[in-house]
Amino acid sequence: MAVSMKGRSLVSMADFSAEEIWRVWELATELKRKQKTGEPHRILEGKQLAMIFQKPSLRTQVSFETGMAQLGGHAVFLGPDHIQLGKRESVPDVARVLGRMVDGIMARVFGHADVETLAEYAGVPVINGLSDSEHPCQALADLFTIYEKMRRLEGVNLTYIGDGNNVAASLLLTGAKVGMNVTLISPDGYEIDSRYVQIARSDAARSGSRLRFSSDPDDVAGSHVIYTDTWASMGQEAEAEERARIFKPFQVNNELVAQAGGAPIVMHCLPAHRGQEITDEVMDGPNSVVFDEAENRLHVQKALMALLM
Ligand code: CP
Ligand code: NVA
Repeated sequence: MAVSMKGRSLVSMADFSAEEIWRVWELATELKRKQKTGEPHRILEGKQLAMIFQKPSLRTQVSFETGMAQLGGHAVFLGPDHIQLGKRESVPDVARVLGRMVDGIMARVFGHADVETLAEYAGVPVINGLSDSEHPCQALADLFTIYEKMRRLEGVNLTYIGDGNNVAASLLLTGAKVGMNVTLISPDGYEIDSRYVQIARSDAARSGSRLRFSSDPDDVAGSHVIYTDTWASMGQEAEAEERARIFKPFQVNNELVAQAGGAPIVMHCLPAHRGQEITDEVMDGPNSVVFDEAENRLHVQKALMALLM
């Protein structure tokens, strides 16, 4: 029998096994169906989620808050000026206080260590809603979307092209666990942190997934899925101009998509900078599933909260 996930946190995709990931997706499928057909699913009746945001958000805030309401619970928004995490009060003290009042915490932070510290001290599940290093909820929603479209993940060729950032890290970790072939293409100097490569390699040895790391945009050939993200993440605004120059050859445009051969699905976690990392033609084109991904944040995170809280 599967071990309960109650009380667990999701700080990094390295925290979950392939089996646990599939449990999230199975429940997400059920909850998505119920939400579409209007079947009540108030499985977190009376539960409270605290949402800490050190950075802006559209999808993460709305999907967690709406998700809690649909599950019969409630979410409390704590913006950057509200609690001033680590400034007005230490991170462990914020965690201890929230843990006395709420049933779960979602945190969007700059330093990844802050979400780790919250999870260490809160005594309630903590979900990483994006840190400078990882974006696990995004990867869970994205691979769920790919599975919905392709009905399989094992052996699917996922190519991420762009900055080796938080989104890339979580896609790599998750893809390696479930047997996808993941290619990361980044300009020299903007590659993913080697500690994620190491973790992914050991998961890939178990799952049979093939991993490739490249700095050549031509390596999109053979992709079933092409994924990109902003060239300058939140907190890197000062580097935006320089990055725009360096990343230009890595733009996802019609030529690059054609280079993949076949008709690859195109993904982006959003927000997109149209005309930079992705063109309008591709983003609004027939292969784009970017708004399906955005919607699936809701369904997948509802499942996640229902399993953890
Ligand atoms: N993809 C994503 O996390 O979007 P937000 O930054 O709007 O939450
Ligand atoms: N890499 C981006 C993702 C936004 C959802 C950032 O961190 O800003």
